[in-house]
Amino acid sequence: MKKIILFFGLVFLMSCGSSEEKKKGFEYNRTQKEDKKAYSAGESSVPIDLDNKGIGPIKSVDFSGSIDNDLADQGKAVFTQKCTACHMANRKLIGPAMQGIYDRRSPEWVMNMLLNPTEMLKDDPIANALLKEYNNVMMLNQNLSQDEARSIAEYLRTL
Ligand code: HEC
Repeated sequence: MKKIILFFGLVFLMSCGSSEEKKKGFEYNRTQKEDKKAYSAGESSVPIDLDNKGIGPIKSVDFSGSIDNDLADQGKAVFTQKCTACHMANRKLIGPAMQGIYDRRSPEWVMNMLLNPTEMLKDDPIANALLKEYNNVMMLNQNLSQDEARSIAEYLRTL
């Protein structure tokens, strides 16, 4: 029995002292700081054009009513499943932060970006500039239905 306790004690000590954990923590903090700096310095050269509706199946989206909370909840679920590998609400990850998206893009542009990212990245001027800004990392087509894309668009209104 004593030997077993000693063994687990040792394993515990070893895992506590792992320098890898500490290094990871450090790298994480550093990235966060750098992101903040890039944001506040306003280095982005991506154009803002709310008249641009993007390229794809969506010609008009009506945001005149108040937020539909049920739809936004559905959108949040899809977002969590299909987007959080690359996006966070309020911080840059692999792709841009989602907060304030409608201050810089039209809802039609956003939905076309969700449904048709490959063509958008190729031919839309804003998506083009984003692609450069994000070191040519391509947003992947998640094969969303139009209903799923619409629910995500509603969720993004709540951020
Ligand atoms: C593989 C990583 C990846 C996934 C998965 C992904 N995105 Fe993206 N997204 C990006 C990148 C990177 C960009 C910036 C453009 C580029 O370089 O492709 C982007 C751009 C965007 C933009 C435009 C942002 C802006 O500031 O104009 C929106 C909106 C967006 N993504 C939403 C989503 C949603 C919603 C999902 C889930 C359905 C999703 N993305 C899935 C990587 C991803």
